[in-house]
Amino acid sequence: MYKNLLFEAKGNIAIVTINRPDKLNALNADTLNDIKDAFLNIKNDQNVFCAIITGSGEKAFVAGADISEINKLDVLGAKEFSEKGQEIFNLIENLNKPVIAAVNGYALGGGCELALACHIRLASENAKFAQPEINLGIIPGYGGTQRLARLINTGRAAEMILTGTTIDASEAYRIGLANKVYPQNELMKNAEAMASAIASKGQTAVRHSLKAVQSANEVSLHEGLKFEASLFALCCGTEDAKEGTNAFLEKRKPVFINK
Ligand code: COA
Repeated sequence: MYKNLLFEAKGNIAIVTINRPDKLNALNADTLNDIKDAFLNIKNDQNVFCAIITGSGEKAFVAGADISEINKLDVLGAKEFSEKGQEIFNLIENLNKPVIAAVNGYALGGGCELALACHIRLASENAKFAQPEINLGIIPGYGGTQRLARLINTGRAAEMILTGTTIDASEAYRIGLANKVYPQNELMKNAEAMASAIASKGQTAVRHSLKAVQSANEVSLHEGLKFEASLFALCCGTEDAKEGTNAFLEKRKPVFINK
């Protein structure tokens, strides 16, 4: 079904593995189409509560957009190329379920941008992050200029984008680009544990938490707080909210039914 992607369902978790290891999982058109299909399926699958995206092999998460495709672009084609990648990464960022990037090696260019579109970034000790497009005479085109500046800060984003410098996992952690860093052979175990923890919560609260956080970069504080209050109210009307608060008061573990 997919050309360059592996898809695995483990309980309520979907694991998406970009599978083009001979090209360090570089994102060509087929791979982007696969990613789009996979996340549309995840979006619509009632049984998936949380997703993980990673790269196959031990070397790369994604080493960027496919440079051989960029090399052939004219101006109009380049705009479409950028907009297509942006649309797919927007799909991930705005998904109705949390997406964890398990960054298992190079996350360069489009790979860093893919990680940025995810909600949580976990890295292996050998992970390397960069926006090296400047070295190719171009700029990031899949959201890097915008998401990196928002996630870390404009000064650090400007430095990474203008110099193309590669940073290692510990530096990525220090500046808030990676949430956590693990030895490579423990990365997926920890990503799955985090995904399982999220999947064990009441899913209405998970979705509303995500929606509220997703809005934080889009709206004013005033609007965001109004949105938060509405979602808080919706949560309080659920059976899970009664169960969660009752369970705390009765000193027992909650049993959520996602209603
Ligand atoms: N696009 C297309 N192909 C890529 C690629 C990319 N972004 N990144 C790696 N590849 C390919 C290489 O061309 C090579 O293919 P080949 O075996 O057919 O020649 C294969 O993947 C392995 O890469 P190689 O460069 O031999 O591995 P390395 O260990 O020596 O170097 C990197 C690894 C990541 C440092 C190097 O591949 C690199 O700099 N890649 C480009 C990174 C980049 O600029 N990304 C942003 C693109 S916008």
